Amino acid sequence: MSPDHEPSAAQAFSRLMQAHRSIRRFRSTPVDSAFINRLLAEAWAGTSSSGNLNMVSVVKTFDPERKARLYELHLQQPMVLQAPLVLTFCADSHRTRQWLAQRNARLGFADFYSWHVAAFDAMLLSQTVALALESHGLGICYMGTTVQAMREIADFLELPENCLPVTSLVVGWPDEAPAQRDRLPPPLWIHEERYQRPTPEHIDTHFAERETRGRERYLAMGPEMAQAWQQHGITSLAQYYTSKIKYDPDRAADTSAALQTLLRERGFMAAALPGATPDEVPHGR
Ligand SMILES: Cc1cc2nc3c(=O)[nH]c(=O)nc-3n(C[C@H](O)[C@H](O)[C@H](O)COP(=O)(O)O)c2cc1C
Repeated sequence: MSPDHEPSAAQAFSRLMQAHRSIRRFRSTPVDSAFINRLLAEAWAGTSSSGNLNMVSVVKTFDPERKARLYELHLQQPMVLQAPLVLTFCADSHRTRQWLAQRNARLGFADFYSWHVAAFDAMLLSQTVALALESHGLGICYMGTTVQAMREIADFLELPENCLPVTSLVVGWPDEAPAQRDRLPPPLWIHEERYQRPTPEHIDTHFAERETRGRERYLAMGPEMAQAWQQHGITSLAQYYTSKIKYDPDRAADTSAALQTLLRERGFMAAALPGATPDEVPHGR
């Protein structure tokens, strides 16, 4: 610990981590827009940014009518309607390219690498914002459906070229206190010096608790879920995960193809710039 580091900051951080739960039920109490702006600015200042390019935009949606449209686009996940605020985090090289153009600089950042840089910056910021919100007692839930509805959300939010949504957070005051969700145990994912491939015994041992708890949790969701498991011949959590009713690999393949098409259309897959060398690309500085 550095000499001027306050132990209380570490304790507060530790408490914050332990208190994390995704929140899917919210009170109707409003969330203040100016407060959110302050928090967003603070979170961005506290988040690293590749090359300090800051190729990220965040769109706030408070308007209930507009949120109702987002609810449709997010596959009708009810928390989009209930939460007073939806934050959409966008990978955005549009602004950077406009700046370059206005300064007669060579244009760039319209390629897959720049998408990667901007998308990861957006994800990094979203997590800092999530922690910042949680530190004030607000609840959040990520919306993975942002990826499935990327085109429609981009159009709805009027995003320009070279700007696409990568994730969203629903935000509000929690109206539930769910139990803490498990994570895979450290021996499975923390490696000493070299990657240690899991043996079949490792998988059996370390997935056992997750399999029991996960299965119980899903089947406790109601008779429809138990019926669906039966209909699809699902007998384990692993089978459920890649079944038609969860993360269907066929659907994932379609989403992947659509994503590539969209990136091409929206200017994130341009061919390499003629004569460009890696040295000229300022990422990572
Ligand atoms: C990128 C991302 C996308 C997610 N998308 C959804 C979603 O669409 N709907 C949902 O209910 N939860 C979503 N979640 C929340 C996860 O289900 C949740 O984080 C996980 O089950 C662990 O629970 P916890 O956050 O309460 O610890 C998402 C989480 C992440 C990181």
